[in-house]
Amino acid sequence: MDSFEKRALILSVGLMMIFVFALMYAVDKRNSDVPDCLPYDAAYTKARIVKLDDDTYQVFCVARMWRFEPESIVIPVGSNVDFFVTSDDVVHGFNIYLKNVNMMAVHGGISKSTVHFDKPGIYKITCHEFCGSGHQNMQAEVVVTEKK
Ligand code: CUA
Repeated sequence: MDSFEKRALILSVGLMMIFVFALMYAVDKRNSDVPDCLPYDAAYTKARIVKLDDDTYQVFCVARMWRFEPESIVIPVGSNVDFFVTSDDVVHGFNIYLKNVNMMAVHGGISKSTVHFDKPGIYKITCHEFCGSGHQNMQAEVVVTEKK
């Protein structure tokens, strides 16, 4: 192996280590949830909000041209929400503003991410994959209310 190859190898291993460190740091310190991809099941294509207990929810979200269902998700502050996202047609994006959630909504696939909402407010959900002429209208929201 000549010295140029050796340097290229050291550089690429170093870059890979930086990448893995950045990923671990994001998961651990920044509380980023790395999205899962689940096997497809038709049960995920029915948009709904399921309350498991007072602060645990499941949201089954379906993206289609050009809206998200459910369009408004109302939960109390302190909730943990599992989002299961799929698409009814083309590839859409699923981004929750201020929450580090950046997933794809793919027909025939299920993306999952768990989000903790620790502050009340309105968190916009937008599509960030260009999906056609109504792309800019694809929005939904999570409304996090004060505890009663
Ligand atoms: Cu859906 Cu852009």
